[in-house]
Amino acid sequence: MESEPPQFRRLAESDRPRIRLVIDGRACEALAGDTLLTALLTNGRRLRSSEFGDGPRAGFCLMGACQDCWMTTETGERLRACGTFIAEGMRLVSGAAEQP
Ligand code: FES
Repeated sequence: MESEPPQFRRLAESDRPRIRLVIDGRACEALAGDTLLTALLTNGRRLRSSEFGDGPRAGFCLMGACQDCWMTTETGERLRACGTFIAEGMRLVSGAAEQP
């Protein structure tokens, strides 16, 4: 499990309704209207592992252009994190729990 502070820190709009989700088996919270990318990076430091073995990925463009933010749910569904809104009860896999 990651012990470093999250990659993103929320500075505004913190009064939106809370959404519960699970990341790598860990109960987390995001806010209504967050993308998966925002939800993951306000709760941790990564979206997924690189398929080329060069380490964790956290997205790049944050606007749907680079394709660096594809990730999976626990059921194997592939989602683009910067273009998908979080929904109550989503169960996402970043692979952080498997890192040394
Ligand atoms: S971060 Fe570039 S497409 Fe999602």
